[in-house]
Amino acid sequence: MKVKNLYIQTIGCQMNVYDSEKIASTLVSLNYRKTADIGAADLIIVNTCAIREKAEQKVFSFLGRLSRLKKNRPNLLIGVGGCVAQQQGEKILERAPFVDLVFGTHAIARLPRMVKGVEKHAGRVVDVEKASAIEPFDEPPELPKSGQVSRFVTIMQGCDNYCTYCVVPYVRGREASRRPEDIISEIERLAAAGVREVTLLGQNVNSYGEKEGLCSFPELLARANAVEGLLRIRFTTSHPKDLSTALCRAFRDLPKLCRHIHLPVQSGSNPILKRMNRRYTRENYLEKVAELRKFCPQIAISSDFIVGFPGEEPADFEQTLDLIRTVEFDSLFAFKYSDRFEAPASRFNDKVPEREQNMRLQRLLEEQDRITLFKHRSLLGSIQEVLVEGVSRRHSLPNGDAGKPLVGALQWTGRTSANKIVNFEQDALRALSRENLKGRLVRVKIEKAHAHSLWGIPLNTATVPSAVKGEKSYAA
Ligand code: SAH
Ligand code: SF4
Ligand code: F3S
Repeated sequence: MKVKNLYIQTIGCQMNVYDSEKIASTLVSLNYRKTADIGAADLIIVNTCAIREKAEQKVFSFLGRLSRLKKNRPNLLIGVGGCVAQQQGEKILERAPFVDLVFGTHAIARLPRMVKGVEKHAGRVVDVEKASAIEPFDEPPELPKSGQVSRFVTIMQGCDNYCTYCVVPYVRGREASRRPEDIISEIERLAAAGVREVTLLGQNVNSYGEKEGLCSFPELLARANAVEGLLRIRFTTSHPKDLSTALCRAFRDLPKLCRHIHLPVQSGSNPILKRMNRRYTRENYLEKVAELRKFCPQIAISSDFIVGFPGEEPADFEQTLDLIRTVEFDSLFAFKYSDRFEAPASRFNDKVPEREQNMRLQRLLEEQDRITLFKHRSLLGSIQEVLVEGVSRRHSLPNGDAGKPLVGALQWTGRTSANKIVNFEQDALRALSRENLKGRLVRVKIEKAHAHSLWGIPLNTATVPSAVKGEKSYAA
């Protein structure tokens, strides 16, 4: 059978990145292979996100590009999946008539059948059926072929929290957890294929397994910690209301668990938190932060914020700034509140004008930039263990021999356990100057602190697992 080319465009969160891998895996049965060249594609799939208006706009502007592509190549097939597909279903076909298939967040396993149908010109199809139970993950994403250091593993789908601004419960359905055996065997296969770090994904990992009576999330982490060959475990996202003492303790007790937690707070004002239906107060949040720091004093904490939520007064916003100064987050993501169809907050009064939202966003980011830089500076002179993710930049030879990579001066990039980006030059590491460092832990002495990254001098490799499979040494 002829090999066909599949191009996948992923918009949205890490879950969509994972789902895109699943999509590629299920389509191997129809002889599709992933390509990075959109011009060579026989099938293009857009995996979409509905979280904010901007994400949705991105989807439709990409689809606009595809309509032009299809005009020149009528045989090209176009599929739309993910959260916008789930929410809009048939409407996508109206708005983008050149699309051949629309599949929702619960339809990935049924995708090969749909693609077969459109290949046979059996007409356009839409499948946005939601499963009541979790879709069996009997076909886990394909294993990495060419050296991937870090991978996502979805451990649960859906969300039952119904924060009033959020579309996720409507587009991802009810919360459901995968069985721990399936998760661990997927991690074992990834580790055996050379993956060194996994990030476990769920909208609220703290309630993992509760509904189904599976093991608790900290127990799952302990089992992942025992997987041979794996060096690091991360997870996201953790809802503050469900953060348990057992999880705080795991940061102290599990050596592979990275010393970083993403703990979205959204606002520092109690009335706003209430209107958001977050089900914790500012005080509860500060207690959780204190407990995390009690068990693991060096833990890095990051967060998400929404500015300009309906009814947010200047005094509420001041409370948010005050919380940022009190906690001293390591980093944060901040978003202007965006009305979402179906989410109850879209029907709330007292919308904050965009101009005001912009001003608040600006002030919040300035406040955090100051803290981030201060935190980065406090690491000057320290020695950090960095998991190398890849080459960040190739220097060309200074003598005019432009473009030719200078192996000795490769610049590598990686992260510390606390999720700080560290760059360093390989030639400073005499003993290993010709080796491929991807996937290795390297000890780096921090010499420069920038706004978004650190720069340092490599000392030596801390532990030296064999280089990631399938990658040749750069010296070769
Ligand atoms: N499950 C995660 C969040 C997933 S969405 C949690 O509860 O933390 C990621 C982030 O997008 C949220 O934390 C929130 O800050 C932001 N977000 C969600 N809906 C939004 C909206 N309607 N407008 C602006 N930001 C939004
Ligand atoms: Fe959305 Fe809230 Fe669920 Fe997070 S916890 S996905 S913000 S509803
Ligand atoms: Fe977006 Fe869906 Fe993720 S709405 S943030 S892709 S769960």
